[in-house]
Amino acid sequence: MSAGGERVAIIGSGNMGTALARGLRETWPSARKNVTISGRDPSRVRAAASHLGVRFARTNPDAAASGDTVVLAVKPQILPSVLEEIRPTLKEGQTLLSIAAGIPTAFLEAGAGRGIGVVRAMPNVAASVRASATAYCLGKSAGRRDRDRARSILESIGTVVEVDETLMDAVTGLSGTGPLYLFLILESLSDAGVKVGLSRETATHLAIQTLVGSAQLVRATGEHPAKLRDLVTSPGGTAITALHSLERNGLKAMLMDAVEAATRRSEELGRRGRPPAPPSPGSPPSS
Ligand SMILES: NC(=O)c1ccc[n+]([C@@H]2O[C@H](COP(=O)([O-])OP(=O)(O)OC[C@H]3O[C@@H](n4cnc5c(N)ncnc54)[C@H](OP(=O)(O)O)[C@@H]3O)[C@@H](O)[C@H]2O)c1
Repeated sequence: MSAGGERVAIIGSGNMGTALARGLRETWPSARKNVTISGRDPSRVRAAASHLGVRFARTNPDAAASGDTVVLAVKPQILPSVLEEIRPTLKEGQTLLSIAAGIPTAFLEAGAGRGIGVVRAMPNVAASVRASATAYCLGKSAGRRDRDRARSILESIGTVVEVDETLMDAVTGLSGTGPLYLFLILESLSDAGVKVGLSRETATHLAIQTLVGSAQLVRATGEHPAKLRDLVTSPGGTAITALHSLERNGLKAMLMDAVEAATRRSEELGRRGRPPAPPSPGSPPSS
């Protein structure tokens, strides 16, 4: 979809909301005119909007009324009240894109009402530098236009993949929580560099570029990482010696355990914090 005249309202101007606004501002020529943000504290949001070069709405309903897509970028526990607040202003044909962890599309659909296409996404913290690995899923209500709108917005902060909603906890375990694993790996490599005699600055620089370069190589070649690993492992060399040490200490199992544990935790938090089930068809709307 061409960003063209598409209008986006972002509700919640914290880390993720401002990352999205910045991403749109940097990639959509029309963002200055077509992107609106709102939040809890109007004076702070006004300052953020002016800094980001987007529009500002004094209230969440004002923002919601201004968007072809309404992005919910508030914490999961705040989301039900925000959804209730904006519901009267939502109009058929709008898309609701939520990035709140653990809130199912069925809940969003029940809260948004008929005719609103719902999309749920899980970006990660690298959105702030437009390098998020984001996965999204479509609600039952979402059609092609909703998908196109969501993709176009999410692509402004990185790469996107579509998954089935049943896989959103797995996404949270891998890429949502993923920056943590890699921060820890970078920290460890930097410490290791210092241990073997490099300055902190040199060690950190080399560790970062090695991580980025290796990821770029895997992406550019499309090869399985194990094949590339084999290519750099010469007989009796440093790589096979290091590999032996990593295998002995169980690095691979450790990372697999971590992703699995984070996935299970996401499921658990989803069950515990899940808002009440949406009303079944025919039951009276709650006030
Ligand atoms: N951070 C991540 O890495 C990450 C990754 C994936 C998904 N997410 C999801 O993204 C969402 C936002 O996370 P975040 O990290 O951006 O949190 P955040 O920095 O705390 O931002 C949330 C924003 O919502 C505002 N807010 C609070 N009550 C509001 C209301 N009634 N109306 C409008 N805005 C309100 C807050 O304002 P005040 O500060 O004034 O209260 C704050 O600016 C969460 O649902 C989270 O699950 C985050």
